[in-house]
Amino acid sequence: MVTRLRPSLSFSSSCVVLLLVLVLVGAGKGEGYSGRVGGRCDLFSGYWVRDESYPLYEESTCQFVQHEFSCEKNGRPDRIYTHYRWQPLACNLLRFNGRDFLKKMMGKSIMFVGDSLSLNQWQSLTCMLHSSLPNSNYTLTRLGSVSIFTFTEYKVKVMVDRNVYLVDVVKEKIGRVLKLDSIESSKLWNGVDMLIFNTWHWWYRRGPTQPWDYIKVGNKVMKDMDRMKAFEVALTTWGKWVDANIDASKVQVFFQGISPSHYNGSLWGDPRAKGCLRQLTPVPGTKYPGGLPEAVAVLKSVLQKMKQPVTLLDITTLSLLRKDAHPSIYGLAGEMGMDCSHWCLAGVPDTWNEILYNLIL
Ligand SMILES: *[C@@H]1O[C@H](CO)[C@@H](O)[C@H](O)[C@H]1NC(C)=O
Ligand SMILES: *[C@@H]1O[C@H](CO)[C@@H](O)[C@H](O)[C@H]1NC(C)=O
Repeated sequence: MVTRLRPSLSFSSSCVVLLLVLVLVGAGKGEGYSGRVGGRCDLFSGYWVRDESYPLYEESTCQFVQHEFSCEKNGRPDRIYTHYRWQPLACNLLRFNGRDFLKKMMGKSIMFVGDSLSLNQWQSLTCMLHSSLPNSNYTLTRLGSVSIFTFTEYKVKVMVDRNVYLVDVVKEKIGRVLKLDSIESSKLWNGVDMLIFNTWHWWYRRGPTQPWDYIKVGNKVMKDMDRMKAFEVALTTWGKWVDANIDASKVQVFFQGISPSHYNGSLWGDPRAKGCLRQLTPVPGTKYPGGLPEAVAVLKSVLQKMKQPVTLLDITTLSLLRKDAHPSIYGLAGEMGMDCSHWCLAGVPDTWNEILYNLIL
């Protein structure tokens, strides 16, 4: 067998020209995810552009969107934040098409697993799909921690499993124990065709809303430990579960990535800002002045050590740029609260899902 290590010059240069042409055509006409051509487009590096053809849906078309994400219904007066599109640097995203998504997933199940940011992304996806096909019947049911949105004609189930740490919290005699190397609730994830995990926001929770009393690793029971380390141990437990239990030829596994908050205006050069309150526009450009949360590096290092391919939805930077897209006082607690962690719908999680759509097509 002859292996040609070096293709001829004319072959390689015509490839380059062809590539360039394809990329340029894609970028110029907005023909979609041209990144596949070179296999190099990083969908997560880019910037936000004003685009009046967004949002993908009106909040009012999805009555099932929960109060905490319904910023418009809760009185948010400005609407500019819904008219942005994510523009990757090296290619264009294909616009979301609900019918294509459901055809692709016909007969299959999707499950988001994680905290309320998973709920946020799940609600966004069900709303994107429903508003694409408003006449297609659906059912919405709940079984314990799992909510199931079924598009009956397509036999597609889009689910969310509320599970803030991925690893287990178990009631024992001494109290509630967060077990960093136990992942029994994974039972609910078997047999699902596409899994999208997330955990982060609860790891630094302290005081009366911390949902555990002790933390356990191996045989060691502690009152507390370094929280970032605990996050890393738990992620490693989750990674081992994926490696041992997922057949990559049948199941697609994603990690949602670290969804950022905006409580400190100094991080985007506006120290007088009251968190995300009355932020009307994104941070311009491709970089967030405050840098990335430390958890991103921890997550990436755990994913790198895994044997199974897990696709990271690396949504941190694109979301960091969106200081304008949180509920602030138009969320769960209204004027009494300041929610700069979740995202209004329509809004940023629609972009996470639009990227997911581009990755699975
Ligand atoms: C939706 O459900 C209604 C009531 O069950 C039924 O009459 C109708 O044919 C269904 N539509 C589709 C497109 O399946
Ligand atoms: C906000 O960020 C700045 C810049 O990193 C930091 O110096 C300051 O301590 C932060 N403030 C709070 C309340 O965390």
